[in-house]
Amino acid sequence: MKSIRVFCPGTIANVSCGFDVLGLSLAGVGEYMTVTQTPTKGITISEITGQDLPLETAKNVAGVAGLALLEALGSEAGFDIKIEKKIKAGSGIGSSAASSAGAVWAINHLLGNPYTTIELIPFAMEGERLASGVAHADNVAPALLGGFTLVRSTDPLDVVSLPSPRELYATVIHPQIEIKTADSRRILKSSLSLKDAITQWGNVGGLVAGLYREDYELIGRSLQDVVIEPVRSILIPGFDEIKAAALNAGAMGCGISGSGPSVFALSKGADKAHEVAQQLKEVYTPMGIPFDIHISNINEKGVYPA
Ligand code: HSE
Repeated sequence: MKSIRVFCPGTIANVSCGFDVLGLSLAGVGEYMTVTQTPTKGITISEITGQDLPLETAKNVAGVAGLALLEALGSEAGFDIKIEKKIKAGSGIGSSAASSAGAVWAINHLLGNPYTTIELIPFAMEGERLASGVAHADNVAPALLGGFTLVRSTDPLDVVSLPSPRELYATVIHPQIEIKTADSRRILKSSLSLKDAITQWGNVGGLVAGLYREDYELIGRSLQDVVIEPVRSILIPGFDEIKAAALNAGAMGCGISGSGPSVFALSKGADKAHEVAQQLKEVYTPMGIPFDIHISNINEKGVYPA
């Protein structure tokens, strides 16, 4: 039976100013999945290591995303999925997106690629719908396509791949508390002032232009979020101290990764990203909350055979 093991990247959604529209794919953070063709129609999930998550197909994001793909194809094929979870659910680093993207990419590959990678996004979004109640695409798009992505529209779906400046590195601190995306969406305001909207779309445009120009200062100036961060940051212990420490250490910008609690900082160069990590450790260690820190460049490939 045909089988493939894939790397499923972690992702930073929103990237400060781009709530639900911007995302980037991480090279050094992710999980692994093995998908094997079986003689029985449908999807089974036979093993999940590293996390206590449902094996039941309809309750697992990989199962739901994979089934959406098989249904669209009218396929009689069957697949078994084994997941080596390395990203915690509720971490803000795209745990559900990694599994959803990995499943649809691997199944599509084993079926001979009936869909292009960009066409797989709607199926992976079904996994996000199960995880958070909303089929947002800002994690699954960069997880599948790699690099930075812009979700210009979800209806109709219009996803644009953006360039990734070569020296861009992310430092991600993950305090070991769980924030469910559904909960951190529920607390958001449903309207915003024109003043804040102007600031926010100025920054989205600035960030996109900065990526195209490889202008690290413009990227840094644009990493501001006046809409979501003021509301969600209260859920993250020490957020203001982390942000101040990252900026003092020379990071270009710092914000909430996805729906939190992880916080990311972007820096020019790996050395700076390591310096930022050191400063963040010094801020967080005395707080007594366990944490992980990841330093990663941008993953240009999305999901890939591993
Ligand atoms: N855009 C989503 C949110 C990403 O912030 O709710 C969740 O990872």
